[in-house]
Amino acid sequence: MKKASLILDRDYRIGQIDPRIYGSFVEHLGRCVYGGIYEPGHPQADEQGFRRDVLALVRQIGVPVVRYPGGNFVSGFQWEDSIGPREQRPRRLDLAWFTTESNEFGLHEFIGWCKKAGAAPMYAVNLGTRGADAARNIVEYANHPGGTYWSDLRKKNGALEPLNIKLWCLGNEMDGPWQMGSKTAYEYGRLANESAKMMKWVDPSIEVVACGSSGMTMPTFGDWELTMLNECYDNVDYVSLHRYYGNPTNDTPGFLARSMDLDAFIQTVVCICDSVKGKKHAKKTVNLSFDEWNVWYHSNRQTDEVTRANKWGQALPILEDVYNFEDALLVGSMLITFLRHADRVKVACLAQLVNVIAPIMTRTGGGAWAQTIFYPYMHVSNFARGTALRPVVCSPVYDCADYTDVPYIDATAALDDDGSVTIFAVNRSMEEDILLEADLRAFGELRMGGHILLHHDDVKAVNSEENPQNVAPVQGKGGTLEGGRLSVRLPRLSWNVLRLRHV
Ligand code: AHR
Repeated sequence: MKKASLILDRDYRIGQIDPRIYGSFVEHLGRCVYGGIYEPGHPQADEQGFRRDVLALVRQIGVPVVRYPGGNFVSGFQWEDSIGPREQRPRRLDLAWFTTESNEFGLHEFIGWCKKAGAAPMYAVNLGTRGADAARNIVEYANHPGGTYWSDLRKKNGALEPLNIKLWCLGNEMDGPWQMGSKTAYEYGRLANESAKMMKWVDPSIEVVACGSSGMTMPTFGDWELTMLNECYDNVDYVSLHRYYGNPTNDTPGFLARSMDLDAFIQTVVCICDSVKGKKHAKKTVNLSFDEWNVWYHSNRQTDEVTRANKWGQALPILEDVYNFEDALLVGSMLITFLRHADRVKVACLAQLVNVIAPIMTRTGGGAWAQTIFYPYMHVSNFARGTALRPVVCSPVYDCADYTDVPYIDATAALDDDGSVTIFAVNRSMEEDILLEADLRAFGELRMGGHILLHHDDVKAVNSEENPQNVAPVQGKGGTLEGGRLSVRLPRLSWNVLRLRHV
């Protein structure tokens, strides 16, 4: 059997894990809101129309922050449409997805839902078709205590206390030609700067995220970050990154190696942020908000067909990727990559939360269930709290189309405040189990607290309403832990969580 080794020390610290890296995203898109988190009349709906079965799954994951209301949708959105009496809210064409938005679910409903989900809101303002004035007005509406036009309107609409939205996105993917009101890097940088400045004048306690490139493959990637940060560095706190992967050629080893691309993407953006910092002689560091990430490709054709056949429809079943087992492995590796960059990645949002490229699926009028990718997401959110550690991993490697020397074992670890250590590991090998030998002597006495294993013999296996547990975690065989040395067999193609408790 092949072997891999891992050495850990409590002093090999990457940084404190910001729990917001386990965030997610709810866009007015497809059935994410309508038929997803909100479905009045459903047998599971509560008095506000929120699906209790969905809320229970969201709480199981532990989602600390939820980005809203888009996405591409936000670039044509008038936030004022989403407040006040429901029957007076306008119906509008949404040019992002060629659907109709009823505005039945709006800002107050979202804040109410967040409270029930135990999540903080992350609100995106429209810098596509609108600008700094609309942006500062919504901050005043949401966060100003009272005594002004917008804050008193909030009170009239039922919220006597401020909504307290602390994290704001300055638009969405503004480099993309598909975006309503897309801009050059300079135009956007100027607008982001003025918007951030005015929003912070209204409420200095907020943090704001400037749009980075919509992906590393954009021709303007790099130059966009440099140019726009040059304009807004002093007034922004984070730069956004977005990345989705797919396996359309059915190349599993190549697909599972894509987290190496993610790693390079993060490193590059960190370098750009720091080069602008250096050039400006700034003390402040701009960190990263990876506010859209996932696997996304299964539903592309179906989305085109549904959209074409139902132009201007509502709550259409679009972007409904059904995730298989190999997708869960890559999602696990992507989460490992964020942990490895915990010093700079402070926010990350799995896109999206329900139905639309999501870990949770529902049937309108029917059940709710966990997709395969739900599990690594939940495990890392539940167990990787505290300090991210940098393990020294030595693994056998393989080559694939785009990469050489891909480690079969992709692993990282977290040290909890109570002294327990959790190792997260993916075995990318299609053929072989691998013996992982971990040197944990630096932590004093530990005992094996559990081995959670996600494996399926069929990489294309999926979960469904009828068979929701087809791909689900089981208890792994664990291993031996003697004198601080752990020895554990990681099955071929598997996601593993190894919990080691402090004695
Ligand atoms: O998450 C789906 C879409 O992907 C978002 O609306 C957009 O920001 C990205 O291109």
